Amino acid sequence: MRDGYQELLQASLNHLQALKSKGDRFVLVEQETWAELCGKPPHRNPASTPTSILPKSVRPTPDSSKLPIIRPSRGTQPAKKEAPQQSTEPPSLPLTGEARYAAMQALRDRALICSQCAHLARNRQQVVFGTGDIHSPIMFIGEAPGADEDQAGEPFVGMAGKLLTRIIETMGLSRSSVYIANILKCRPDTPGQSSGNRKPTPEEMSACVPFLHQQIDIIRPKVLVALGSTAVEGLLGGAIFITKLRGHWQTYRGTPLMPTYHPSYVLRKQTLDIKREVWEDMLQVMDKAELPISEKQRGFFLKP
Ligand code: URA
Repeated sequence: MRDGYQELLQASLNHLQALKSKGDRFVLVEQETWAELCGKPPHRNPASTPTSILPKSVRPTPDSSKLPIIRPSRGTQPAKKEAPQQSTEPPSLPLTGEARYAAMQALRDRALICSQCAHLARNRQQVVFGTGDIHSPIMFIGEAPGADEDQAGEPFVGMAGKLLTRIIETMGLSRSSVYIANILKCRPDTPGQSSGNRKPTPEEMSACVPFLHQQIDIIRPKVLVALGSTAVEGLLGGAIFITKLRGHWQTYRGTPLMPTYHPSYVLRKQTLDIKREVWEDMLQVMDKAELPISEKQRGFFLKP
């Protein structure tokens, strides 16, 4: 047993050295493995054999739900048609500085070549990965890119995006100081139509949501804001009434989540009540994210 362990350890060290000499700077490590490397005895739990630090030849099939974080930052392209890896729990340690940036870059590289939803990959102009500050305490989550976003490669740049930007600025922030992403990274195709948008299907959302999970795990925001009923349904599952759920804190993978109206709904309705409700939701978000709130901000919708 001891000999076997030593052999495995040596093989792992050789493999890591080989990766390092090729320029790899990060490797994927299971949470249990990480805990063991941080000081627990190496083979306390036989079920938690190290996986991804081992050479492929001795690597068991990974249980993707346990993979906490992304693989290397080397410039090599991963294999085509790579599906996002499921990640149900955040990594045990927050990534800092360069490692966080590299992890997000590696995730982005994978998303940009994803063709898991062949129909979406065929029809997209660009993958719309996400934008903003990867250290932001607040992450806004929409449903899917529309035509404008597909063209620009950036979420929320159309009319709804302009309103979202105004809301963010009214919160005393800027677009670049928060993080904005969608559940779906590709525009839902509209066969037979040259324009228009459609809602993403539950199947499309569940195929793509692992990318969002990993974005959340890398950023570790204090607060998530889900924009509109489709995004909320895509995250929380089931059918919801956004008019009932908005303004009420939910928890998503351990992070407080505020459901609110989608900016395009606000634009469609244009009523003062709906605008006020969105602003009340944002005041709660600011409070939870421990951002300063001025008297003016508090009083926007109060009658004189
Ligand atoms: N609506 C969304 O949900 N996301 C976008 O990026 C744009 C519009």
